[in-house]
Amino acid sequence: MEKISRYPLSVSLLHWLLAVALTGNLVIGWMLDDREDLVTLHKSIGIAVLGLVLIRLVNRVRMRGRLPKSVNKVGTPAHFVETAVHRLFYILMLAIPLLGWMKTNAAGHAASCFGLFSLPALIPRSRELSHLLGQLHSLTAYGLTALIGLHVAGILAHRVFKTQNILPRMLPLSPRGSNSQAHAPE
Ligand code: HEM
Ligand code: HEM
Repeated sequence: MEKISRYPLSVSLLHWLLAVALTGNLVIGWMLDDREDLVTLHKSIGIAVLGLVLIRLVNRVRMRGRLPKSVNKVGTPAHFVETAVHRLFYILMLAIPLLGWMKTNAAGHAASCFGLFSLPALIPRSRELSHLLGQLHSLTAYGLTALIGLHVAGILAHRVFKTQNILPRMLPLSPRGSNSQAHAPE
């Protein structure tokens, strides 16, 4: 049985698409105070992110037998941190848009995606809830930012301290070696 040394194409494409969409929406979110006109775009991207995260989760389960082994040994602190960061990523990628959706409902608006469709209201209008959910949405967005920093620092640390380049494992376009997923068991 060949060793799997990189992530399947579908996993890597969804990883980079969501990395761009999430980072972009963090930046747009922080611009909303000065640019009210960006709020519709922010909500639309956020709802698209929610849909893409659900697809990513289903795809990850579908691909679970074809994923490369962690670069960190099971049982080490590094493996523990890596697993925790990846799980927290999935929790926040779902929680942030859900909180934004509920905050929008509590403020008395419908959450719509690029004018194509509107999501049903999850909660009734409430000034207190709107404030609370807005704060939770902001707090979790800071959490995601910190996690991205930790994630990138971990990848850089492997490069610097272990001279191990992890990045190609997640790149869709790097050349496929003999250990590529094409040889992975079905
Ligand atoms: C999924 C990715 C999303 C990210 C990364 C994100 C991030 C952010 C950030 C960083 C802010 C600024 C918070 C602050 O001022 O401290 C913000 C504000 C806001 N977001 Fe999102 N958001 C996302 C999705 C959504 C969705 C799906 C909706 C609604 C459908 C939404 C509605 C809002 C609203 C209404 C505000 C203004 C909050 C306020 O003024 O209290 N967001 N978002
Ligand atoms: C919002 C931004 C990001 C999120 C949410 C995110 C999330 C994740 C998650 C959950 C995984 C585990 C594999 C999976 O389930 O798909 C992963 C792996 C990976 N990410 Fe990110 N990521 C982000 C940004 C980045 C950036 C900026 C880089 C570039 C340095 C990067 C490089 C990688 C690499 C190389 C792996 C594979 C690690 C391994 O070898 O096992 N990610 N990412």
